[in-house]
Amino acid sequence: MDKMDHINIQQVLEQTVQETVSEAEKGEVASYIPELARQDKRRLGISVCLKDGTLLSAGDAHLPFTLQSISKIFSLMVALCEHGERYVFERVGKEPTGDPFNSIIKLETIKPHKPLNPMINAGAIAVAGMIPGATVEKRLEKIMRLLRKMTGNPELRVNYDVYQSEKQTADRNRALAYFLKESKILSGDVEETLDLYFRHCSIEVTTVEVARLAAILAADGYDIVSGEQLLPREVARICKTFMVTCGMYNASGEFAIDVGIPAKSGVAGGIMASVPQRMGLGVFGPALDEKGNSVAGVKLLQRLSDMWDLSIF
Ligand code: DON
Repeated sequence: MDKMDHINIQQVLEQTVQETVSEAEKGEVASYIPELARQDKRRLGISVCLKDGTLLSAGDAHLPFTLQSISKIFSLMVALCEHGERYVFERVGKEPTGDPFNSIIKLETIKPHKPLNPMINAGAIAVAGMIPGATVEKRLEKIMRLLRKMTGNPELRVNYDVYQSEKQTADRNRALAYFLKESKILSGDVEETLDLYFRHCSIEVTTVEVARLAAILAADGYDIVSGEQLLPREVARICKTFMVTCGMYNASGEFAIDVGIPAKSGVAGGIMASVPQRMGLGVFGPALDEKGNSVAGVKLLQRLSDMWDLSIF
């Protein structure tokens, strides 16, 4: 890409953010985690990390927000790197659910009682249980180390207020976790595993960092900035596949048709989208639709996908 292309992309990003920001009126910020309810719903920002590592941003790209469910991709990466595919998928499935992200119903009705995939809360809590270490801090450090390396930001940290806010109100996640313990999917101290899960959901980022993470996934685990292969290709491939089939929860099918980019959303309003071999996108817009995805964020990605022909299908 030459400089002209970069100027063009920058203009498109700025204009599209401006045209899309009003979509936020159709959604609401998440309120079941009280600290998230304080976010300003009219924010919208985007960063793009191109194949050559160039970063371009528009709108509220420098506002911090928490990864929430986007972090499920990175805990899965750590579990796959620590234990391999066989161990992980003996404990969590590979199938989309069609249910909301915090649903409990299929956990009981499907036998054996393993969570259907690692992107729903039950599955991500099972994955958190697989991350080894003597203390919660040491277990979290494994995820933080990977994220710091991938984002190039050594200062990455957990937002303590969001973490506490979720921990104090997480009765549904607690119910899921204890059910998993009874079904022998989780072993060890359930509260410690939940604590790890709440903490990794509360890791704070900006769209710039999310775009970098997305770009590394788009490049099959290779980081153009450091010149290093940061993840095995196979792990990147599995994560991107889950992003297509389950990344936008029970809106994944609709998103695949309307946008067509492997993507993962979080209830703080973030979306990480990886266009294979082309670019990584990080989006932030805290107003959510009824399924928990950023309303303006999805629309922004749809418009860019149409304009730049980004659909993988
Ligand atoms: O466990 C929860 O409910 C949150 N920490 C994460 C959920 C989430 O981001 C779902 N996203 N759309």
